Amino acid sequence: MTGTTWQGDVDQRALPGTVRDDFPFFRGAEGVGLAYLDNAATTQKPAAVLAAITDYYATANSNVGRGYYRLSMASTDRFEAARGTVARAIGAAHPDEVLFTSGTTHAVNLLAATLGRRLVGPGDRVLVTGMEHNSNLLPWRRLCEEAGAELVAVPVDADGAVRADAFADALGPRVRLAAMAHVSNVLGTVNPVREMIAEAHRHGVPVVIDGAQAVPHRPVDVRALDADFYCFSAHKVYGPMGVGVLYGRRDLLADLPPYQVGGGTVKGVSLAEPVRYLAGPPRFEAGTPDVAGAVGLAAALDYLDGLGRDAVRAHDAALVRHAVTALGQLDRVRIVGDPARDPSGIVSFVVEGIHPYDVGGHLDRHRIAARCGVHCASVFLDGLGLLGTVRLSFGVYNTVADVDRVREAVAGVEPGFWTAEHPTTRFL
Ligand code: ALA
Repeated sequence: MTGTTWQGDVDQRALPGTVRDDFPFFRGAEGVGLAYLDNAATTQKPAAVLAAITDYYATANSNVGRGYYRLSMASTDRFEAARGTVARAIGAAHPDEVLFTSGTTHAVNLLAATLGRRLVGPGDRVLVTGMEHNSNLLPWRRLCEEAGAELVAVPVDADGAVRADAFADALGPRVRLAAMAHVSNVLGTVNPVREMIAEAHRHGVPVVIDGAQAVPHRPVDVRALDADFYCFSAHKVYGPMGVGVLYGRRDLLADLPPYQVGGGTVKGVSLAEPVRYLAGPPRFEAGTPDVAGAVGLAAALDYLDGLGRDAVRAHDAALVRHAVTALGQLDRVRIVGDPARDPSGIVSFVVEGIHPYDVGGHLDRHRIAARCGVHCASVFLDGLGLLGTVRLSFGVYNTVADVDRVREAVAGVEPGFWTAEHPTTRFL
């Protein structure tokens, strides 16, 4: 490897240098001095989000949509206000197009069990891409197995990208549904989803977009994309764990049966009559929702708005470019794909001859938290011919100095236990 004299040259002033101060985690025992670079797995939470959650429980806690008293109505108002904030943040035409789920995984499972079962039958096809996270692969795979349908993965190119023309070629009369990541959680590759959706619509095929890695890094406008369904998780966008969003176009949601059934989903039930389910979000939000989670998500989106969505995008992009340049200087390091082409907060690399877990453990000893392995996307890694990667994923509190610490540490990494004893083992 080359020496460690390389100096960064990136102007990273899109966000104020004080952003890290907004996050109490970095003042705690685990956070002080930590280069936290696993934001694609989950982000830290700003004080504003923690305060919103605490305030909800301290001042408004009661169940929603089912209490004829002022406190319950106030709680319902907060829940619905959060829905409105999410709708505005993603450009939805109406808050009723926003369903709260437990996360992206729940959202995709909901769609596979409702939309999927309705549309897909024996001999039909469901299209995904070769880069999907298991959460946007396994629900469709199970649907196809149950329906006697075929799951087709549109191939990725050598850079780990899906080309719009490859997707168009895979569309045909047997395709009933398509599902794809907006941004790859492994390489940060951005799919040309607007073109892909337009092409799918020319074939009458609805499209589900997994936006879990897009919403944290770029402004998303579901109407500009002409998205049918778009999913993301709160915890990857500085909000709490356990809550997420399924956006669905109003006319499409109106056609779907409930996923789970139970309290809050019905107009009325009698044992003698057919069940009459509510229209709109309550139809899909059986049981007590995570109201505090929704409130926390709204606070997180407000926080990002306060920083400025374009500034967040510019900041994350600057760190990607910096990482590509800095790590690219090291002899044994290979950046996977082309993350600087349309940067989206993620850079994956391999160190030739060293198992990714050895690199990850070495970074950990340098107080750098980064995910290594297959990133819940072993099918994609297989397609790239890789055992795994080391992934840097950036957030608003990261700095050029964090990237430079990675470069310094990687320059000194040596083969270790995994390289010597388990050179082909992978499980994360
Ligand atoms: N989906 C998350 C990741 O990519 C957990 O790490």
